[in-house]
Amino acid sequence: MRVLFIADLVGDDAVGLVADLLPRLKNLHKIDFTIVNGENADKGKGITGPQIRRLKEVGVDCLTSGNHIWDPRKREVLMEFGGYLLRPLNYPEGNVGLGASVFKLADGRKIAVLNLQGRSFMYSIECPFRAAEKEVRKLRSETFMIFVDFHAEATAEKQALGWHLDGKVSAVIGTHTHVQTADERILPRGTAYLTDAGMTGPVDSVIGMDTQRAIDRFILQSHVYYSVAKHNIRLNGAVVEIDESTGKAKEIYRINLNKSEIQ
Ligand code: FE2
Repeated sequence: MRVLFIADLVGDDAVGLVADLLPRLKNLHKIDFTIVNGENADKGKGITGPQIRRLKEVGVDCLTSGNHIWDPRKREVLMEFGGYLLRPLNYPEGNVGLGASVFKLADGRKIAVLNLQGRSFMYSIECPFRAAEKEVRKLRSETFMIFVDFHAEATAEKQALGWHLDGKVSAVIGTHTHVQTADERILPRGTAYLTDAGMTGPVDSVIGMDTQRAIDRFILQSHVYYSVAKHNIRLNGAVVEIDESTGKAKEIYRINLNKSEIQ
């Protein structure tokens, strides 16, 4: 089973780039299942219904998210697309949406996707380590192929979860920082790991946002509205190949390209 993970979409142009490149990417990398983190697709915060429908139409099998899915007036999509659009599992009980889902491919193969969020330099939600343990035990009764999107700020927390889940899930891929790291590897017990898959969006920016506004925000220390940058849009992500009988990863590599760099 070959899984394509596409990192955090920033802005509508990123949705357009995925729509444009996905058929070729799938073909080129022989992809069976595609996961996209869409939490910044709507002008940097959340994702809209029309964007979700567009991504679904072009062949995205599952969307993951993170902290911005809860922004004002953004969470409604979780009610409409819950199960297809995941939100971090470890938010307190009572919140809408689902944090994990099992997907059945046309040929009967099953893959689970689990979305978690870190707590270091972020909200003090439930423990992602304990939430993962509990959920993974449940998911493994349905399939050994389990893909984890860990939406977290701190490298150490991401590495720690990777080691904690080594051998229990197929992949732990980090998101949220919007900067792709070069530490992809397969851990000793068979879990593919990458600290951060990066961002699909404008790289002439500060994590996707207009540079001058970001600079002003740091200098002025008062609230300056962000706006999504426009130039040099790249698609970031990773491909993971999973052994279907054991759920262990056989290969992981990163993707980082723009429109003209794809064959
Ligand atoms: Fe985030």
